[in-house]
Amino acid sequence: MLAGFVGAGKVGFSLGKFMTENGIQVTGYYSRHRESAEEAAIFTGSQAYYELEELVSESDAVFLTVPDEAISSTYEQLKTFDIRDKYICHCSGALSASETFPDAAARGALGYSIHPLTPVSDKHSSYRELADSLFCIEGDPERIDVWFDLLSGICKGVKIIDSTCKSRYHAAASIASNLYCALMSMSVGLLEDCGFSQNEALDALSPLVLANASAILRYGPVKALTGPIERGDADTVRRHIDCLEGNPGKALYLEAAEMVLHEAEIKNPQRDYHAMHEVLIRSRSEV
Ligand SMILES: NC(=O)c1ccc[n+]([C@@H]2O[C@H](COP(=O)([O-])OP(=O)(O)OC[C@H]3O[C@@H](n4cnc5c(N)ncnc54)[C@H](OP(=O)(O)O)[C@@H]3O)[C@@H](O)[C@H]2O)c1
Repeated sequence: MLAGFVGAGKVGFSLGKFMTENGIQVTGYYSRHRESAEEAAIFTGSQAYYELEELVSESDAVFLTVPDEAISSTYEQLKTFDIRDKYICHCSGALSASETFPDAAARGALGYSIHPLTPVSDKHSSYRELADSLFCIEGDPERIDVWFDLLSGICKGVKIIDSTCKSRYHAAASIASNLYCALMSMSVGLLEDCGFSQNEALDALSPLVLANASAILRYGPVKALTGPIERGDADTVRRHIDCLEGNPGKALYLEAAEMVLHEAEIKNPQRDYHAMHEVLIRSRSEV
């Protein structure tokens, strides 16, 4: 398999390096700025291309590692060349292969989305984390096993998902990473209101965050659940809500508390959460 990349950014650099380190040959890079393609080529010991057509003709698989909004327009360019029997791939977590490469099969090509479920934040070092990541793939069923087999041997795992699930899948990833930042921001802000500096707040929260994440990953969110909602301490929760008056995160607290209460009821079916329901219902009616 010879893989070429259009878009020499974080994922282009990282996936290319990961492939070369694992026996998959990389032809090289074409990018918006030739300097990026040249830098990626040096990094991966491959070639910089200045003509897209040349990269396409010399590669079995072409990875469009451009930003999501540029995938379709890049494909429009690509399909003016001979793409018969080529694997056309992108790495977006949110977009499916069929919506980005709608006529790939009609042109004799095979379209895939191949998404590493990990943040790729650095062009030069993130490739080291790809071996410990899950790759989620979907696309043309005809040869999806080629990608499954190729990646299975070099990373933590490969999961084939249905193309209709891409948005849902990406929302899941986003909730576990980006949206979690909103809860942390709110928590740090409350500690700052108590006189902590941001660094002190982060340092203070560190054991809580790490132990909680570890328990969730080990036992699942329901079993890992602790705290006043799970215990049924309705008065403590009422005090939380009172002190959030005027805080833009109050609605978020109430929504999250509602979900936590639901999970607490699953965990402790015999516990009486009547008073907790009352507190949350009353508070939500006041928002
Ligand atoms: N970063 C992540 O954490 C992550 C994780 C998983 C999947 N992904 C997916 O990977 C893809 C790439 O993301 P990224 O984070 O690598 O983005 P990025 O760092 O911004 O890199 C994108 C590169 O594409 C090039 N480019 C932009 N428009 C182009 C065009 N029209 N033609 C050719 N090259 C073009 C730019 O190259 P120049 O430098 O030449 O301007 C840029 O370096 C996206 O689909 C994203 O959803 C990202």
